[in-house]
Amino acid sequence: MKIALIGYGKMGKTIEKMALEQGHSVTLIIDVHNPEDLNSRNLQKAEVAIEFTRPESAFNNILKCIEAGVPVVSGTTGWIHRKEELEQQCNTYDGAFFYASNYSIGVNIFFALNRFLAHMMNTQPQYAIELEEIHHTEKLDAPSGTAITLAEGIMSEIAQKTDWVNESNEANHIIPIISKRIPKVKGTHQINYRSAIDDLEIKHVAHTREGFAKGAIQAAQWIIGKKGSFGMKDMLGF
Ligand SMILES: NC(=O)c1ccc[n+]([C@@H]2O[C@H](COP(=O)([O-])OP(=O)(O)OC[C@H]3O[C@@H](n4cnc5c(N)ncnc54)[C@H](O)[C@@H]3O)[C@@H](O)[C@H]2O)c1
Repeated sequence: MKIALIGYGKMGKTIEKMALEQGHSVTLIIDVHNPEDLNSRNLQKAEVAIEFTRPESAFNNILKCIEAGVPVVSGTTGWIHRKEELEQQCNTYDGAFFYASNYSIGVNIFFALNRFLAHMMNTQPQYAIELEEIHHTEKLDAPSGTAITLAEGIMSEIAQKTDWVNESNEANHIIPIISKRIPKVKGTHQINYRSAIDDLEIKHVAHTREGFAKGAIQAAQWIIGKKGSFGMKDMLGF
């Protein structure tokens, strides 16, 4: 497939390397130095766009792809409060948009496990919940998009939990998310259920960025020819 890469940082470069190894081609690379090249004429030379940039630029980048009629896969985190707005634009332009806060297959299994565990914990209020995420020091947003998805998964299963905050908090309705930034950590997420009698913990540790790149390329192949707004659940059938 012919790919337009938007964002040529750690993820953009990892995706380019893996895509070329898989026999795909990259017809366009957009980074902070050439935003003017992100136009319909250039985009339409690709079959699909993959966007990994920054929270402040993701919305407009994705919108340009939708307006150009090019399906777009985005992994940029930290802009998700505008996702609904984008989905409306996707409908207006009859476009195709795929978003995942985390493209790793293992993390998506972890999301399903998280909801399953939370479902059982709904009737066990003696356990206090805490979510912890650790990433490299260059990560701009906190908490991570993955941690927010995990918190949302817990809130959908545990009636008492109605909100999360990005700090320690002991209120019954709150899920505290503790964010740590440590050099070179690719991404660790842990959910702790603690009681006076015992603790229960589930944890996912990413070893390389390649898991994210692999999932994003798979999503790019999957979305070609489709219309609408999609996520990993649609692709993986969870
Ligand atoms: N969903 C996932 O699975 C997943 C995995 C890893 C990272 N991420 C997220 O993806 C994003 C990128 O991560 P990264 O590690 O590659 O970051 P990075 O800082 O290494 O790269 C971001 C790149 O975007 C470029 N950029 C900035 N503004 C731009 C613009 N307006 N147009 C085009 N390019 C622009 C920067 O120059 C930089 O090269 C972050 O939001 C990160 O949290 C998501």
